Amino acid sequence: MSETWWRGAAIYQVYLRSFADGNGDGTGDLAGLRARLAYLAELGIDAIWLNPWYPSPMADGGYDVADYRGVHPWFGTLAEAEAFIGEAHGLGIRIIVDVVPNHTSDRSEWFRAALAAGPGSPERERFWFRPGRGDAPPNDWKSIFGGPAWTRVPDGEWYLHLFAPEQPDFNWTHPEVVQEFLDVLRFWFDRGVDGIRVDSAAVLVKDPDAEPDGLDPYTDRDAVHEIYRGWRALADTYPGRVLVGEVWLPDQERLARYLRPDEMHTVFNFPFLGAPWDAGVLRGVIDDTFATLGPMGAPATWVLGNHDVTRPVTRYGRRDTSFDHADRKHLAPTDPVLGVRRARAAALLSLALPGGVYIYQGEELGLPEVEDLPDEMRQDPIWERSGRTDRGRDGCRVPLPWSGVEPPFGFGDAEPWLPQPAGWKELTVEAQLADPASMLELYREALRVRRAELGDGSLTWLPSEEGVLAFARDSGLRCVVNLGAAPVPVAGEVLLASGPLDGDGLLPPDTAVWLR
Ligand code: NOJ
Repeated sequence: MSETWWRGAAIYQVYLRSFADGNGDGTGDLAGLRARLAYLAELGIDAIWLNPWYPSPMADGGYDVADYRGVHPWFGTLAEAEAFIGEAHGLGIRIIVDVVPNHTSDRSEWFRAALAAGPGSPERERFWFRPGRGDAPPNDWKSIFGGPAWTRVPDGEWYLHLFAPEQPDFNWTHPEVVQEFLDVLRFWFDRGVDGIRVDSAAVLVKDPDAEPDGLDPYTDRDAVHEIYRGWRALADTYPGRVLVGEVWLPDQERLARYLRPDEMHTVFNFPFLGAPWDAGVLRGVIDDTFATLGPMGAPATWVLGNHDVTRPVTRYGRRDTSFDHADRKHLAPTDPVLGVRRARAAALLSLALPGGVYIYQGEELGLPEVEDLPDEMRQDPIWERSGRTDRGRDGCRVPLPWSGVEPPFGFGDAEPWLPQPAGWKELTVEAQLADPASMLELYREALRVRRAELGDGSLTWLPSEEGVLAFARDSGLRCVVNLGAAPVPVAGEVLLASGPLDGDGLLPPDTAVWLR
Protein backbone atom coordinates (compact mmCIF):
# COMPACT_ATOMS: atom_id res chain seq x y z
CA MET A 1 0.00 0.00 0.00
CA SER A 2 1.18 3.44 -0.86
CA GLU A 3 3.08 5.40 1.75
CA THR A 4 1.38 8.59 0.59
CA TRP A 5 -2.14 7.13 0.85
CA TRP A 6 -3.23 10.25 2.76
CA ARG A 7 -2.74 12.55 -0.25
CA GLY A 8 -6.04 11.50 -1.77
CA ALA A 9 -7.77 9.68 1.07
CA ALA A 10 -11.44 9.87 2.03
CA ILE A 11 -11.26 10.05 5.83
CA TYR A 12 -14.32 9.38 7.96
CA GLN A 13 -14.43 11.08 11.35
CA VAL A 14 -15.79 8.88 14.13
CA TYR A 15 -17.08 10.62 17.24
CA LEU A 16 -16.97 7.42 19.24
CA ARG A 17 -19.41 8.46 21.94
CA SER A 18 -22.13 8.88 19.30
CA PHE A 19 -21.29 6.29 16.65
CA ALA A 20 -22.71 3.00 17.98
CA ASP A 21 -23.22 1.59 21.47
CA GLY A 22 -22.11 -2.01 21.78
CA ASN A 23 -22.58 -2.55 25.53
CA GLY A 24 -25.99 -1.00 26.08
CA ASP A 25 -25.07 1.95 28.32
CA GLY A 26 -26.24 4.72 25.98
CA THR A 27 -22.69 5.74 25.03
CA GLY A 28 -20.95 4.72 21.82
CA ASP A 29 -17.89 2.50 22.19
CA LEU A 30 -15.29 0.39 20.43
CA ALA A 31 -17.52 -2.68 20.49
CA GLY A 32 -20.17 -0.71 18.59
CA LEU A 33 -17.63 0.62 16.13
CA ARG A 34 -16.12 -2.82 15.51
CA ALA A 35 -19.56 -4.22 14.86
CA ARG A 36 -20.15 -1.50 12.24
CA LEU A 37 -16.78 -1.58 10.51
CA ALA A 38 -18.33 -3.38 7.55
CA TYR A 39 -20.66 -0.39 7.09
CA LEU A 40 -17.65 1.91 6.78
CA ALA A 41 -15.82 -0.46 4.45
CA GLU A 42 -18.90 -0.58 2.20
CA LEU A 43 -19.27 3.18 2.36
CA GLY A 44 -15.90 3.26 0.62
CA ILE A 45 -13.70 5.29 2.95
CA ASP A 46 -9.93 4.92 3.20
CA ALA A 47 -9.31 5.91 6.80
CA ILE A 48 -10.97 6.73 10.11
CA TRP A 49 -10.04 9.60 12.37
CA LEU A 50 -11.28 9.04 15.92
CA ASN A 51 -11.78 11.82 18.44
CA PRO A 52 -9.94 11.19 21.74
CA TRP A 53 -10.66 7.76 23.21
CA TYR A 54 -8.43 8.17 26.27
CA PRO A 55 -9.34 8.00 29.96
CA SER A 56 -10.85 11.38 30.73
CA PRO A 57 -13.28 13.02 33.14
CA MET A 58 -15.05 14.24 29.96
CA ALA A 59 -15.13 17.89 30.93
CA ASP A 60 -14.67 18.61 27.21
CA GLY A 61 -15.81 15.46 25.43
CA GLY A 62 -12.48 13.72 26.04
CA TYR A 63 -10.26 16.66 25.01
CA ASP A 64 -9.33 16.72 28.69
CA VAL A 65 -7.01 13.71 28.53
CA ALA A 66 -6.05 12.08 31.84
CA ASP A 67 -3.87 9.31 30.34
CA TYR A 68 -2.52 9.49 26.80
CA ARG A 69 -1.69 5.79 26.68
CA GLY A 70 -5.01 4.26 27.62
CA VAL A 71 -8.65 3.94 26.57
CA HIS A 72 -11.61 5.30 28.54
CA PRO A 73 -13.66 2.48 30.13
CA TRP A 74 -16.75 3.92 28.43
CA PHE A 75 -15.16 3.03 25.10
CA GLY A 76 -13.44 -0.25 25.99
CA THR A 77 -9.88 -1.31 26.69
CA LEU A 78 -6.47 -0.83 25.14
CA ALA A 79 -6.63 -4.45 24.00
CA GLU A 80 -9.89 -3.71 22.18
CA ALA A 81 -8.35 -0.64 20.57
CA GLU A 82 -5.49 -2.80 19.33
CA ALA A 83 -7.89 -5.41 18.00
CA PHE A 84 -9.88 -2.66 16.30
CA ILE A 85 -6.77 -1.27 14.57
CA GLY A 86 -5.96 -4.74 13.29
CA GLU A 87 -9.51 -5.34 12.02
CA ALA A 88 -9.62 -1.98 10.27
CA HIS A 89 -6.30 -2.70 8.59
CA GLY A 90 -7.67 -6.03 7.48
CA LEU A 91 -10.42 -4.12 5.64
CA GLY A 92 -7.91 -1.71 4.09
CA ILE A 93 -8.95 1.13 6.44
CA ARG A 94 -6.24 3.22 8.10
CA ILE A 95 -6.55 4.74 11.56
CA ILE A 96 -5.80 8.27 12.72
CA VAL A 97 -5.93 9.04 16.45
CA ASP A 98 -6.34 12.41 18.10
CA VAL A 99 -3.47 13.72 20.24
CA VAL A 100 -4.09 16.72 22.48
CA PRO A 101 -0.75 18.42 23.23
CA ASN A 102 -1.82 21.89 24.35
CA HIS A 103 -3.48 20.80 27.57
CA THR A 104 -4.20 17.79 29.73
CA SER A 105 -6.89 16.96 32.28
CA ASP A 106 -6.82 18.46 35.76
CA ARG A 107 -7.11 14.82 36.90
CA SER A 108 -3.93 13.71 35.10
CA GLU A 109 -1.07 12.37 37.18
CA TRP A 110 1.18 15.30 36.28
CA PHE A 111 -1.34 17.94 37.19
CA ARG A 112 -2.30 16.29 40.46
CA ALA A 113 1.37 16.05 41.32
CA ALA A 114 1.75 19.74 40.50
CA LEU A 115 -1.13 20.67 42.79
CA ALA A 116 0.24 18.55 45.61
CA ALA A 117 3.83 19.75 45.30
CA GLY A 118 2.96 23.41 45.74
CA PRO A 119 4.39 26.73 44.54
CA GLY A 120 7.95 26.76 43.27
CA SER A 121 8.09 22.98 42.80
CA PRO A 122 9.52 21.31 39.68
CA GLU A 123 6.14 19.60 39.22
CA ARG A 124 4.51 22.99 38.63
CA GLU A 125 7.07 23.87 35.97
CA ARG A 126 5.37 21.55 33.47
CA PHE A 127 2.36 23.88 33.53
CA TRP A 128 1.88 27.63 33.72
CA PHE A 129 1.49 28.40 37.42
CA ARG A 130 1.88 32.05 38.39
CA PRO A 131 1.12 34.32 41.35
CA GLY A 132 -1.81 36.65 40.75
CA ARG A 133 -1.85 40.43 40.71
CA GLY A 134 -3.40 40.80 44.13
CA ASP A 135 -6.72 39.05 43.77
CA ALA A 136 -6.63 39.37 40.00
CA PRO A 137 -5.27 36.71 37.63
CA PRO A 138 -1.69 37.02 36.33
CA ASN A 139 -2.86 38.61 33.08
CA ASP A 140 -6.06 39.34 31.20
CA TRP A 141 -6.09 36.39 28.80
CA LYS A 142 -9.52 34.99 28.10
CA SER A 143 -10.42 31.32 27.72
CA ILE A 144 -11.49 30.27 24.23
CA PHE A 145 -14.57 28.75 25.91
CA GLY A 146 -15.38 32.00 27.72
CA GLY A 147 -14.34 33.52 31.05
CA PRO A 148 -10.79 34.08 32.29
CA ALA A 149 -7.96 31.79 31.12
CA TRP A 150 -6.69 31.45 34.72
CA THR A 151 -8.00 29.53 37.69
CA ARG A 152 -6.80 29.95 41.26
CA VAL A 153 -5.80 26.97 43.37
CA PRO A 154 -6.18 26.82 47.18
CA ASP A 155 -2.56 27.86 47.88
CA GLY A 156 -3.19 31.11 45.99
CA GLU A 157 -1.36 30.46 42.71
CA TRP A 158 -3.14 30.52 39.37
CA TYR A 159 -2.77 28.18 36.40
CA LEU A 160 -3.37 28.84 32.75
CA HIS A 161 -6.03 27.07 30.68
CA LEU A 162 -6.82 28.38 27.21
CA PHE A 163 -9.89 26.13 27.23
CA ALA A 164 -11.89 24.91 30.29
CA PRO A 165 -10.44 25.06 33.84
CA GLU A 166 -10.36 21.25 33.71
CA GLN A 167 -7.81 21.55 30.85
CA PRO A 168 -4.56 23.01 32.25
CA ASP A 169 -2.09 24.09 29.55
CA PHE A 170 1.30 22.41 29.31
CA ASN A 171 4.48 24.46 29.39
CA TRP A 172 6.08 23.52 26.08
CA THR A 173 9.40 25.12 27.02
CA HIS A 174 9.82 22.22 29.47
CA PRO A 175 11.95 19.37 28.06
CA GLU A 176 9.87 16.73 29.86
CA VAL A 177 6.75 17.89 28.04
CA VAL A 178 8.57 17.62 24.72
CA GLN A 179 9.84 14.12 25.57
CA GLU A 180 6.50 12.95 26.88
CA PHE A 181 4.69 13.66 23.63
CA LEU A 182 7.38 12.07 21.49
CA ASP A 183 6.89 9.03 23.66
CA VAL A 184 3.09 9.18 23.27
CA LEU A 185 3.42 9.34 19.49
CA ARG A 186 5.76 6.35 19.56
CA PHE A 187 3.29 4.47 21.77
CA TRP A 188 0.52 4.79 19.17
CA PHE A 189 2.71 4.33 16.11
CA ASP A 190 4.00 1.13 17.70
CA ARG A 191 0.37 -0.01 17.95
CA GLY A 192 -0.06 0.47 14.24
CA VAL A 193 -1.91 3.76 14.00
CA ASP A 194 -1.37 5.43 10.65
CA GLY A 195 -1.70 9.03 11.64
CA ILE A 196 -2.08 11.65 14.33
CA ARG A 197 -4.59 14.49 14.31
CA VAL A 198 -2.96 17.30 16.27
CA ASP A 199 -5.48 19.16 18.42
CA SER A 200 -5.30 22.97 18.73
CA ALA A 201 -1.97 22.79 16.97
CA ALA A 202 -1.26 26.53 16.70
CA VAL A 203 -1.53 27.52 20.38
CA LEU A 204 1.06 25.37 22.18
CA VAL A 205 3.70 28.06 22.57
CA LYS A 206 2.97 31.03 24.82
CA ASP A 207 4.70 33.30 27.25
CA PRO A 208 2.34 34.70 29.86
CA ASP A 209 5.14 36.86 31.31
CA ALA A 210 6.03 38.62 28.06
CA GLU A 211 5.18 42.27 27.64
CA PRO A 212 2.44 42.64 25.03
CA ASP A 213 4.35 42.94 21.73
CA GLY A 214 1.55 43.38 19.25
CA LEU A 215 1.51 39.68 18.40
CA ASP A 216 -1.20 37.36 19.55
CA PRO A 217 0.23 36.11 22.86
CA TYR A 218 -0.39 32.43 22.16
CA THR A 219 -1.57 31.82 18.61
CA ASP A 220 0.97 30.82 15.99
CA ARG A 221 4.17 31.81 17.79
CA ASP A 222 7.21 30.98 15.67
CA ALA A 223 8.63 28.54 18.22
CA VAL A 224 5.68 26.17 17.76
CA HIS A 225 7.26 24.90 14.55
CA GLU A 226 10.20 23.41 16.41
CA ILE A 227 7.77 21.03 18.12
CA TYR A 228 6.38 19.74 14.83
CA ARG A 229 9.84 19.32 13.34
CA GLY A 230 10.52 16.92 16.18
CA TRP A 231 7.25 15.10 15.57
CA ARG A 232 7.88 14.83 11.85
CA ALA A 233 11.39 13.47 12.39
CA LEU A 234 9.84 10.76 14.57
CA ALA A 235 6.94 10.07 12.19
CA ASP A 236 9.42 9.68 9.33
CA THR A 237 10.98 6.72 11.10
CA TYR A 238 7.66 4.87 10.63
CA PRO A 239 6.60 4.34 7.01
CA GLY A 240 3.33 5.79 5.75
CA ARG A 241 2.39 7.81 8.82
CA VAL A 242 0.63 11.17 8.57
CA LEU A 243 0.41 14.25 10.82
CA VAL A 244 -2.80 16.27 10.38
CA GLY A 245 -2.89 19.68 12.02
CA GLU A 246 -5.93 21.36 13.46
CA VAL A 247 -4.75 24.85 12.61
CA TRP A 248 -7.34 27.64 12.56
CA LEU A 249 -5.46 30.59 11.04
CA PRO A 250 -6.98 33.17 8.74
CA ASP A 251 -3.57 34.08 7.30
CA GLN A 252 -2.81 31.47 4.63
CA GLU A 253 0.89 32.39 4.45
CA ARG A 254 1.21 31.60 8.14
CA LEU A 255 -0.83 28.42 7.71
CA ALA A 256 1.51 27.21 4.98
CA ARG A 257 4.42 27.24 7.43
CA TYR A 258 2.90 24.25 9.25
CA LEU A 259 3.21 22.31 6.00
CA ARG A 260 6.89 22.82 5.34
CA PRO A 261 8.47 19.55 4.26
CA ASP A 262 9.83 18.85 7.73
CA GLU A 263 6.59 19.64 9.61
CA MET A 264 3.03 18.34 9.15
CA HIS A 265 1.79 16.47 6.11
CA THR A 266 -1.64 18.08 5.96
CA VAL A 267 -3.94 20.50 7.76
CA PHE A 268 -7.73 20.77 7.79
CA ASN A 269 -9.13 23.24 5.28
CA PHE A 270 -11.17 25.47 7.59
CA PRO A 271 -11.64 28.37 5.13
CA PHE A 272 -13.55 25.88 2.94
CA LEU A 273 -15.62 24.71 5.91
CA GLY A 274 -16.47 28.29 6.87
CA ALA A 275 -17.28 29.51 3.36
CA PRO A 276 -20.85 30.47 2.47
CA TRP A 277 -22.72 28.77 -0.36
CA ASP A 278 -21.48 31.25 -2.93
CA ALA A 279 -19.69 30.38 -6.15
CA GLY A 280 -17.31 33.34 -6.07
CA VAL A 281 -16.29 32.82 -2.46
CA LEU A 282 -15.87 29.06 -2.87
CA ARG A 283 -13.82 29.43 -6.02
CA GLY A 284 -11.64 31.97 -4.24
CA VAL A 285 -11.10 29.57 -1.32
CA ILE A 286 -10.30 26.69 -3.67
CA ASP A 287 -7.78 28.77 -5.62
CA ASP A 288 -6.22 30.13 -2.42
CA THR A 289 -5.93 26.60 -1.09
CA PHE A 290 -3.87 25.46 -4.06
CA ALA A 291 -1.83 28.67 -4.08
CA THR A 292 -1.02 28.15 -0.39
CA LEU A 293 -0.36 24.42 -0.35
CA GLY A 294 1.12 23.96 -3.81
CA PRO A 295 4.53 25.46 -3.02
CA MET A 296 4.72 23.22 0.08
CA GLY A 297 3.94 20.12 -1.96
CA ALA A 298 1.07 19.41 0.45
CA PRO A 299 -2.29 18.08 -0.73
CA ALA A 300 -5.52 19.95 -0.01
CA THR A 301 -8.14 18.60 2.37
CA TRP A 302 -11.84 19.37 1.89
CA VAL A 303 -13.96 19.63 5.02
CA LEU A 304 -17.66 20.46 5.35
CA GLY A 305 -18.14 19.70 9.02
CA ASN A 306 -16.78 18.17 12.20
CA HIS A 307 -17.72 17.72 15.87
CA ASP A 308 -17.21 21.44 16.56
CA VAL A 309 -19.35 23.06 13.88
CA THR A 310 -22.96 23.34 12.70
CA ARG A 311 -24.06 20.47 10.47
CA PRO A 312 -24.02 21.42 6.75
CA VAL A 313 -27.69 20.57 6.14
CA THR A 314 -28.75 23.15 8.73
CA ARG A 315 -26.15 25.74 7.80
CA TYR A 316 -26.85 25.66 4.07
CA GLY A 317 -30.57 26.16 4.63
CA ARG A 318 -30.06 29.45 6.43
CA ARG A 319 -29.94 32.93 4.97
CA ASP A 320 -26.32 33.28 6.12
CA THR A 321 -24.66 30.02 5.04
CA SER A 322 -21.19 30.72 6.42
CA PHE A 323 -19.86 29.19 9.63
CA ASP A 324 -18.10 31.15 12.35
CA HIS A 325 -17.31 29.92 15.89
CA ALA A 326 -17.98 33.39 17.21
CA ASP A 327 -21.62 33.17 16.16
CA ARG A 328 -23.22 29.76 15.70
CA LYS A 329 -26.52 31.35 14.63
CA HIS A 330 -28.33 28.87 16.84
CA LEU A 331 -31.99 28.62 15.85
CA ALA A 332 -31.61 31.02 12.92
CA PRO A 333 -34.41 30.02 10.54
CA THR A 334 -33.37 27.23 8.17
CA ASP A 335 -35.08 25.72 5.15
CA PRO A 336 -34.45 21.98 5.51
CA VAL A 337 -35.29 21.13 1.90
CA LEU A 338 -32.91 23.76 0.56
CA GLY A 339 -30.29 22.77 3.13
CA VAL A 340 -30.35 19.14 2.04
CA ARG A 341 -30.24 20.06 -1.64
CA ARG A 342 -27.18 22.21 -1.12
CA ALA A 343 -25.49 19.72 1.20
CA ARG A 344 -25.86 17.06 -1.52
CA ALA A 345 -24.31 19.40 -4.08
CA ALA A 346 -21.56 20.37 -1.62
CA ALA A 347 -20.79 16.69 -1.10
CA LEU A 348 -20.25 16.16 -4.82
CA LEU A 349 -18.11 19.31 -4.94
CA SER A 350 -15.87 18.32 -2.03
CA LEU A 351 -15.55 14.72 -3.22
CA ALA A 352 -14.51 15.83 -6.72
CA LEU A 353 -11.79 18.27 -5.67
CA PRO A 354 -8.15 17.12 -5.75
CA GLY A 355 -6.70 16.02 -2.41
CA GLY A 356 -8.05 14.37 0.69
CA VAL A 357 -11.59 14.74 1.97
CA TYR A 358 -13.10 14.45 5.47
CA ILE A 359 -16.59 13.16 6.16
CA TYR A 360 -17.90 13.71 9.69
CA GLN A 361 -20.11 10.85 10.85
CA GLY A 362 -23.73 11.53 9.95
CA GLU A 363 -22.89 13.80 7.02
CA GLU A 364 -23.38 10.79 4.78
CA LEU A 365 -26.89 10.51 6.28
CA GLY A 366 -27.67 14.20 5.88
CA LEU A 367 -28.27 14.63 9.60
CA PRO A 368 -29.28 18.15 10.62
CA GLU A 369 -27.96 20.01 13.63
CA VAL A 370 -30.20 19.19 16.61
CA GLU A 371 -31.06 22.66 17.83
CA ASP A 372 -33.77 21.88 20.35
CA LEU A 373 -31.83 19.78 22.88
CA PRO A 374 -33.09 20.44 26.40
CA ASP A 375 -30.69 22.87 28.05
CA GLU A 376 -30.25 20.62 31.08
CA MET A 377 -28.87 17.87 28.85
CA ARG A 378 -26.18 19.99 27.25
CA GLN A 379 -22.67 18.70 27.93
CA ASP A 380 -20.49 21.11 25.99
CA PRO A 381 -18.54 23.31 28.45
CA ILE A 382 -19.09 26.26 26.11
CA TRP A 383 -22.71 26.43 27.31
CA GLU A 384 -21.85 27.16 30.95
CA ARG A 385 -18.59 29.02 30.27
CA SER A 386 -20.38 31.46 27.98
CA GLY A 387 -22.87 32.22 30.73
CA ARG A 388 -25.45 30.18 28.81
CA THR A 389 -25.32 32.48 25.81
CA ASP A 390 -23.65 30.05 23.36
CA ARG A 391 -25.37 26.67 23.08
CA GLY A 392 -22.17 25.14 21.83
CA ARG A 393 -21.54 21.93 19.95
CA ASP A 394 -23.84 19.24 21.31
CA GLY A 395 -26.22 19.64 18.38
CA CYS A 396 -23.78 18.03 15.94
CA ARG A 397 -22.87 15.23 18.38
CA VAL A 398 -26.21 13.46 18.71
CA PRO A 399 -25.95 9.64 18.40
CA LEU A 400 -26.39 8.19 14.92
CA PRO A 401 -29.66 6.57 13.80
CA TRP A 402 -29.01 3.10 12.39
CA SER A 403 -32.34 1.35 12.08
CA GLY A 404 -35.92 1.10 13.25
CA VAL A 405 -38.63 3.73 13.60
CA GLU A 406 -38.07 5.12 17.07
CA PRO A 407 -35.18 6.15 19.31
CA PRO A 408 -32.58 4.82 19.94
CA PHE A 409 -32.80 3.83 16.26
CA GLY A 410 -30.44 0.87 16.60
CA PHE A 411 -27.74 3.01 18.22
CA GLY A 412 -27.78 0.56 21.14
CA ASP A 413 -30.12 -0.91 23.69
CA ALA A 414 -30.32 2.02 26.07
CA GLU A 415 -31.43 5.61 25.89
CA PRO A 416 -28.63 7.53 24.14
CA TRP A 417 -26.62 10.15 26.05
CA LEU A 418 -28.22 12.86 23.93
CA PRO A 419 -31.79 12.45 22.66
CA GLN A 420 -32.37 11.77 18.95
CA PRO A 421 -35.22 13.57 17.14
CA ALA A 422 -38.21 11.36 16.27
CA GLY A 423 -37.94 12.52 12.65
CA TRP A 424 -34.66 10.65 12.30
CA LYS A 425 -36.61 7.51 11.46
CA GLU A 426 -36.37 8.64 7.83
CA LEU A 427 -32.62 9.16 8.12
CA THR A 428 -31.54 5.80 9.50
CA VAL A 429 -28.90 3.80 7.66
CA GLU A 430 -31.50 1.10 7.17
CA ALA A 431 -34.02 3.47 5.58
CA GLN A 432 -31.42 5.10 3.35
CA LEU A 433 -29.96 1.84 2.06
CA ALA A 434 -33.42 1.03 0.76
CA ASP A 435 -33.71 4.33 -1.12
CA PRO A 436 -31.57 4.92 -4.23
CA ALA A 437 -32.21 8.68 -3.95
CA SER A 438 -30.91 8.93 -0.36
CA MET A 439 -27.94 10.94 0.84
CA LEU A 440 -26.24 7.70 1.87
CA GLU A 441 -26.53 6.24 -1.63
CA LEU A 442 -25.17 9.49 -3.08
CA TYR A 443 -22.11 9.23 -0.82
CA ARG A 444 -21.60 5.55 -1.54
CA GLU A 445 -21.74 6.04 -5.27
CA ALA A 446 -19.59 9.17 -5.19
CA LEU A 447 -16.95 7.46 -3.05
CA ARG A 448 -16.91 4.53 -5.45
CA VAL A 449 -16.29 6.76 -8.48
CA ARG A 450 -13.86 8.86 -6.49
CA ARG A 451 -11.79 5.87 -5.50
CA ALA A 452 -11.60 4.75 -9.12
CA GLU A 453 -10.59 8.04 -10.66
CA LEU A 454 -10.36 11.06 -8.32
CA GLY A 455 -8.37 11.70 -5.13
CA ASP A 456 -4.92 13.25 -5.50
CA GLY A 457 -4.08 15.19 -8.67
CA SER A 458 -5.02 18.51 -10.19
CA LEU A 459 -7.98 20.49 -11.47
CA THR A 460 -8.63 22.63 -14.54
CA TRP A 461 -11.32 25.29 -14.31
CA LEU A 462 -13.71 25.27 -17.25
CA PRO A 463 -15.51 28.31 -18.63
CA SER A 464 -18.87 28.71 -16.90
CA GLU A 465 -21.65 31.16 -16.26
CA GLU A 466 -21.75 33.35 -13.20
CA GLY A 467 -22.77 31.42 -10.12
CA VAL A 468 -21.45 28.13 -11.52
CA LEU A 469 -18.33 26.16 -10.58
CA ALA A 470 -17.10 23.90 -13.36
CA PHE A 471 -13.82 22.01 -13.47
CA ALA A 472 -12.24 18.95 -15.01
CA ARG A 473 -10.08 16.39 -13.26
CA ASP A 474 -7.11 14.59 -14.76
CA SER A 475 -9.22 11.51 -15.59
CA GLY A 476 -11.51 13.63 -17.73
CA LEU A 477 -14.34 13.66 -15.20
CA ARG A 478 -16.03 17.04 -15.04
CA CYS A 479 -17.82 18.46 -12.02
CA VAL A 480 -20.38 21.25 -12.47
CA VAL A 481 -22.06 22.89 -9.47
CA ASN A 482 -24.85 25.39 -9.97
CA LEU A 483 -24.95 27.87 -7.08
CA GLY A 484 -26.88 30.41 -9.11
CA ALA A 485 -30.60 31.13 -9.33
CA ALA A 486 -31.33 29.80 -12.84
CA PRO A 487 -30.87 26.37 -14.47
CA VAL A 488 -27.75 26.04 -16.66
CA PRO A 489 -27.14 23.71 -19.62
CA VAL A 490 -24.68 20.83 -19.17
CA ALA A 491 -23.58 18.32 -21.79
CA GLY A 492 -22.07 14.86 -21.59
CA GLU A 493 -22.70 11.52 -19.98
CA VAL A 494 -24.07 11.98 -16.44
CA LEU A 495 -22.18 9.78 -13.98
CA LEU A 496 -23.82 11.09 -10.87
CA ALA A 497 -26.05 14.01 -9.95
CA SER A 498 -26.99 15.45 -6.57
CA GLY A 499 -30.57 15.91 -7.78
CA PRO A 500 -32.64 15.35 -10.90
CA LEU A 501 -31.72 17.33 -14.02
CA ASP A 502 -34.47 19.23 -15.84
CA GLY A 503 -35.41 18.07 -19.32
CA ASP A 504 -32.98 19.08 -22.08
CA GLY A 505 -29.96 18.62 -19.82
CA LEU A 506 -30.49 21.64 -17.59
CA LEU A 507 -28.79 21.63 -14.22
CA PRO A 508 -31.15 23.21 -11.64
CA PRO A 509 -29.98 25.65 -8.95
CA ASP A 510 -28.22 24.16 -5.90
CA THR A 511 -27.41 20.99 -7.81
CA ALA A 512 -24.12 19.36 -8.80
CA VAL A 513 -23.32 16.83 -11.47
CA TRP A 514 -20.36 14.64 -12.42
CA LEU A 515 -20.04 14.25 -16.17
CA ARG A 516 -17.89 12.44 -18.64
C1 NOJ B 1 -10.37 21.36 19.20
C2 NOJ B 1 -11.31 20.21 19.31
O1 NOJ B 1 -11.77 19.87 18.03
C3 NOJ B 1 -12.42 20.65 20.24
O2 NOJ B 1 -13.48 19.74 20.25
C4 NOJ B 1 -11.83 20.86 21.61
O3 NOJ B 1 -12.83 21.37 22.47
C5 NOJ B 1 -10.67 21.86 21.58
N1 NOJ B 1 -9.76 21.61 20.50
C6 NOJ B 1 -9.87 21.80 22.86
O4 NOJ B 1 -9.16 20.60 22.94
